[in-house]
Amino acid sequence: MIIYVLSRFKDSYSTSRLKEEAVGLGHKVKVIDYMHCELLIDKKFTVKYLNVPLKIPDVVIARVGASSTRQGAAVLKHFQCMGVRLLTTPEGLIQSRDKFLAMQLMKMENLPMPKTLHFFTKTTFSNIQYEIGNPPFIIKLLESTQGLGVFLAHNKTVAEKIFATYMSSNEPFLVQEFIKESSGKDIRAFVVGDDVVASMERVALSGEFRSNLHRGGTAYKVELTDEERDIAIRAANVFGLEIAGVDILRSKKGPLLLEVNSSPGLEGIEKYSEVNVTEHIIKWIEQHGN
Ligand SMILES: Nc1ncnc2c1ncn2[C@@H]1O[C@H](COP(=O)(O)OP(=O)(O)O)[C@@H](O)[C@H]1O
Ligand SMILES: [Mg+2]
Repeated sequence: MIIYVLSRFKDSYSTSRLKEEAVGLGHKVKVIDYMHCELLIDKKFTVKYLNVPLKIPDVVIARVGASSTRQGAAVLKHFQCMGVRLLTTPEGLIQSRDKFLAMQLMKMENLPMPKTLHFFTKTTFSNIQYEIGNPPFIIKLLESTQGLGVFLAHNKTVAEKIFATYMSSNEPFLVQEFIKESSGKDIRAFVVGDDVVASMERVALSGEFRSNLHRGGTAYKVELTDEERDIAIRAANVFGLEIAGVDILRSKKGPLLLEVNSSPGLEGIEKYSEVNVTEHIIKWIEQHGN
């Protein structure tokens, strides 16, 4: 098969692993920096890369960064319009990157999640407290990754300062109940196709509530319960994603979904789960090619 990997960084762990495994299994692989694509609509759809029209591949794998979601989605859509098989749909990419839209769509499928509130104009603190409960609250920017846009407000003063900052800069955010018992810990379930192929529990640095590996957290492999596995698969399905990293909190009320990552990194999950996740991806493509 001819496989294109859309990625800004050809030497990154995830991109080079995809290339290595696919080439090892006899496929032709081209890494395409989608920011250097031109999308032409004329008599037909054409993707030009560095000024040369690209051949139509069999499959496109997307590794689209958070700062170029729109461009990555446009390139994916063009390939989809050309009849190419995608593992990440442009719609799924866009929907999963908006944390509140993602929550709305997952709730429509009756998936469990922390209580979440989104508002646009100044509201009273007692209203937020009425909806979400007493602080601490989690406050999240709608479009952020690696834990960078996630804050813990311990009291009213801090929460109001954060709200005022985001409102004045027109940054959309959500407020969420803080799941205390899972502070500093979460589960990453890696979905490929119709199954969870690997999972890890991530643990934050001491004094840190965000368990993202990019925030200095570490991880170890963990067995998921049937319920967690089922939730992860259903969450990936909401967005039509055949490759997804699903973040889940283990709470007193049971598993709660945080988000679905549409270009999940491979380095942490391969290291800590000791599973060759990349091979699972290429094998899935081979079995469900066209
Ligand atoms: N409601 C919450 N209660 C407790 N911890 C949370 C909550 N929301 C997020 N966290 C912590 O913050 C981390 C980052 O949040 P997440 O929603 O996954 O955003 P990001 O896209 O930045 O990874 C999570 O992995 C988890 O450790
Ligand atoms: Mg996350």
